[in-house]
Amino acid sequence: MTSRVIPVAPFVLVVFGATGDLARRKLLPALFQRDLAGQLPDEAVIIGTARGRLSGADYEALAARAIAEHVPKAERNEAVLARFMARLSYIRVDAAGDEGWADLAASLAGYRAMVNVFYLATGPSLFGPICERLGQTGLAHEMARVVVEKPVGRDGASAAAVNDAIGRVFPEERVYRIDHYLGKETVQNLLALRFANALFEPLWNAAHIDHVQITVAESLGVEGRAGYYDHAGALRDMVQNHMLQLLCLVAMEPPARLDADAVRDEKLKVLHALAPLGEHGWVRGQYRAGASAGGPVPGYLDELGAAESTTETFVALKAELRNWRWAGVPFYLRTGKRLATRVSEIVIAFRPVPHSVFDEAAGPILANKLVIRLQPDEGVKLWLMTKDPGPGGMRLRAVPLDMSFAAAFGVRNPDAYERLVLDVVRGNQTLFMRRDEVEAAWAWIDPILDAWAQAGTPPKPYTAGTWGPSASIALIERDGRTWEDGNP
Ligand code: BG6
Repeated sequence: MTSRVIPVAPFVLVVFGATGDLARRKLLPALFQRDLAGQLPDEAVIIGTARGRLSGADYEALAARAIAEHVPKAERNEAVLARFMARLSYIRVDAAGDEGWADLAASLAGYRAMVNVFYLATGPSLFGPICERLGQTGLAHEMARVVVEKPVGRDGASAAAVNDAIGRVFPEERVYRIDHYLGKETVQNLLALRFANALFEPLWNAAHIDHVQITVAESLGVEGRAGYYDHAGALRDMVQNHMLQLLCLVAMEPPARLDADAVRDEKLKVLHALAPLGEHGWVRGQYRAGASAGGPVPGYLDELGAAESTTETFVALKAELRNWRWAGVPFYLRTGKRLATRVSEIVIAFRPVPHSVFDEAAGPILANKLVIRLQPDEGVKLWLMTKDPGPGGMRLRAVPLDMSFAAAFGVRNPDAYERLVLDVVRGNQTLFMRRDEVEAAWAWIDPILDAWAQAGTPPKPYTAGTWGPSASIALIERDGRTWEDGNP
């Protein structure tokens, strides 16, 4: 099966932080993939900017290395690579100073009639200054849009300050706050599953759902990002954004239309319905040395190169929503680095049958489960009870109705950035976070951060390669439930 490719309008994309990790790992490979798919118009132009003194040829070489590293060999095509390279140029710009802005403005002068995207792949402290400069140099005109990466701030107050600085130059309709989880295919599939099927929605409430689990487990440690990570921690890095966005998509009311504000209005209501967490509602952990993928791996402090740190690399939370649909249904969230495996999934655990008509020999009747696997092996499984085949009386067995997207569609699953970058060009904000959403998420997170700071207790240790501290298991087991272990 082939996917439908509709070319986007001509655009110029300016990347700030063009030599950084995000540009190399995600943006350049994503843009190349879209060029390969035939989605970039001939006029599309990409300008990299950074502080380094690079020639155009140097930047092309950097882009070629990034593509070689992050695009599988079978998907590279020399002719497209040459076409892609011809779109690229580099301008040295000091985002925080004066240098290079006049050159950038001069290069963009000929493109004012097309969509201008300014992608800030920099730290959040530069978002305000870059926007201010874009405004001063006349580059924030009506055809211009700005894209910012998370984290937007490190608490509610700093997020508001960053948003104010952006908002002084760009109106909200031209601000795109990326949460790359919203660009993942299976996350969008959650919308299709809920709102393009009549089957689930009548059951999608506290009367039929016992609880929800959202797990985003990573097997890697903090790698080269320990400097950033130690100032963030799992709550800021993953929960404030990705995990709460997933929770919103599971819990929101059906929007009237799939347009940006209708969807974001519904997500905002979910964030406002989150009950404040009590001190028994969370578990923080930090990994110690252990084993991962068969080999020994160092602990967090070793990776950080520090004698101590109270930053959490794992967090589990029991969230609850105060509204009619979800009252009394816990949403258990957990995420961490160096866990037993890499898996992200959402489990909708239905209530058990009210009465069993089978005798004991049939075995237990397990409650139905809908498991939405975000990665790896994207797909959806609906666990149902069936009769064990063959003679021997009535014995029951749980079997999944299993839809693996790879098997069902046989197409490459595009990276989230491929979708999101082109959505910016299309002017579609549906999969981007609105200012009020970001701030509402912080309003729920801030008291948790404050409580941790006040308590001053260190995170609980866990061995790398496990499912986190045992307190995380206790968090769910004291409610008589268990974590899904992420097995296929
Ligand atoms: C990023 C976090 O936003 O998401 C990282 O900053 C994390 O710490 C990453 O590793 C996970 O993304 P993915 O797409 O690999 O699940």
